[in-house]
Amino acid sequence: TTHKVGYLVGSLAKGSINRKLAKALVRVAPPELEMSEISFKDLPLYSYDYDADYPPAGRAFKAAIAAVDAVLFVTPEYNRSIPGGLKNAIDWASRPYGTNSFTRKPSAVIGTSPGAIGTAVAQQNLRSVLSFCNSPQMNAPEAYIQFTPGLITDDGEVTNEATAEFLRKFMQDFHLFIARVRSVLPKDA
Ligand code: FNR
Repeated sequence: TTHKVGYLVGSLAKGSINRKLAKALVRVAPPELEMSEISFKDLPLYSYDYDADYPPAGRAFKAAIAAVDAVLFVTPEYNRSIPGGLKNAIDWASRPYGTNSFTRKPSAVIGTSPGAIGTAVAQQNLRSVLSFCNSPQMNAPEAYIQFTPGLITDDGEVTNEATAEFLRKFMQDFHLFIARVRSVLPKDA
């Protein structure tokens, strides 16, 4: 069986290295995973004032998450946490109260940075947020990708075979994780 995976790229930058990583992950993903991007750039800054009448952008974002079987976060580290835009998007999806889009939605986290720790601290922060949002998370493998110049082309081609193999394995493991979580969920979840 196939599974739909929606991926969120934490960076809004045109030259984002995390977007290159996301493209690479799409390329190496097993055929059972149908990958599509879930964009969050058009969301206003969240406030609970919106809860009484969720705007179209907020509804569309929640609907996009509802339409996939799992969510993959591909995020940079900004000031040792996730970018504000990504946190804003998660806040939108988690509300209005009682309609949290992440409940029972399997997720995985990955990211790349020019620095040696490869977004490890941001990922730890994101894992806390996803835990609170009740998303079953793939614990392992973890993936902290140090981005050296040319490692991934603009089209998502990985130029280093060991890295390509690591990313392939990461997506295979995510596929197995999604299948395992979904096998214990009620049919209507
Ligand atoms: C950074 N960068 C960064 N890198 C890191 O490893 N840890 C960090 O805490 C930060 N902090 C940080 C804050 C801000 C505001 C910016 C703009 C950048 C550097 C960052 O890893 C680098 O710009 C990457 O290119 C970001 O990934 P994207 O946006 O290109 O995908």
